[in-house]
Amino acid sequence: MTPRPLLAVERVATHFPVKRGGWLRRRVETLKAVDGVSFAILPGETFGIVGESGSGKSTLARTILRVYRPTAGRIRFDGLDITELDETALGPVRRNMQMVFQDTKSSLNPRLRVEQILDEPLVTHGLPRGRRRVVELLEMVGLGDSHVERYPHQLSGGQRQRIGIARVLALNPRLIVADEPVSALDVSIQAQILNLLKSLQSRLGLTIVLIAHDIGVVGYFCQRVAVMYLGRMVEAGPGRHVTRSPSHPYTQALISAIPKAEPGVRRSRILLTGEIPSPINPPTGCPFHTRCPVKLGAICERERPPRYRTVDGGWAACHALNDRPVVAEAQEE
Ligand SMILES: Nc1ncnc2c1ncn2[C@@H]1O[C@H](COP(=O)(O)OP(=O)(O)OP(=O)(O)O)[C@@H](O)[C@H]1O
Ligand SMILES: [Mg+2]
Repeated sequence: MTPRPLLAVERVATHFPVKRGGWLRRRVETLKAVDGVSFAILPGETFGIVGESGSGKSTLARTILRVYRPTAGRIRFDGLDITELDETALGPVRRNMQMVFQDTKSSLNPRLRVEQILDEPLVTHGLPRGRRRVVELLEMVGLGDSHVERYPHQLSGGQRQRIGIARVLALNPRLIVADEPVSALDVSIQAQILNLLKSLQSRLGLTIVLIAHDIGVVGYFCQRVAVMYLGRMVEAGPGRHVTRSPSHPYTQALISAIPKAEPGVRRSRILLTGEIPSPINPPTGCPFHTRCPVKLGAICERERPPRYRTVDGGWAACHALNDRPVVAEAQEE
């Protein structure tokens, strides 16, 4: 029997009303930032979400953590349906699901010293405090007690991200959602932070969702990877498969855009033409059909492709794979 998912996301959509037009012809339209996404994450798993800017990754992250209430669908955390919970009921759940942000300049209060930054969540959630706990948290992220008195501006970008991680660890969360945690850092520092997250994940049995626009980063870090395009997931599967021999033409295009792949990685040069369409008026059928190099014809324009099986529990939503078995969405139910 497969264990119960820690997080189950079922056909979730997050739409925003947006005002368009001048003052004479002002109208409200719907921007479909996330539009029918299903996936499940098992306890202890690392799950990567990758996609171009604007594909809906951060909106999905905020929806999972119930910063946003989804327009449709269900979110279950450790079996508990959190889709409609109000702030009071969400309180104890929030402690267990925490976010690591990209921009530590704005996510860490510049007027607080490291000690106060790490103390804050302990106070909020009524957890044991004290300098010993702060130093313990610093040690977990590879920093020492010499950092206790410093302000964020006295730290390097990498050190600030370590503090951001320590602040999240203070609450002993079960799920960490890291939204582009390394994309603001120098390449040499990126690997250090990813390795830190990786070692914390295995030491503490954390479940991590890692969001990145760089497929190389998620492929290195994650057991499973999902690819987003225009608010939808188009492919998901084992990290190695999705990043080395992807099945969906969009994933193939993402891989082929990496300047230098590792030796032995199968690559085909695919150049995408055209702009990414607007999530206000997304294409009908397959969202990728307007840019797809292997488009079949009318079916791609009209019918939303089902999920076709790839390897090891993976799938890709592409009509060109229609000789394969279909995988049901939200199978975890
Ligand atoms: N609060 C909001 N109100 C209206 N539109 C929004 C809001 N937040 C995001 N969007 C729109 O939703 C779409 C998805 O945005 P989102 O930030 O989730 O993408 P992303 O994949 O995280 O992009 P990036 O890689 O640039 O961080 C974009 O078109 C964005 O403009
Ligand atoms: Mg984002």
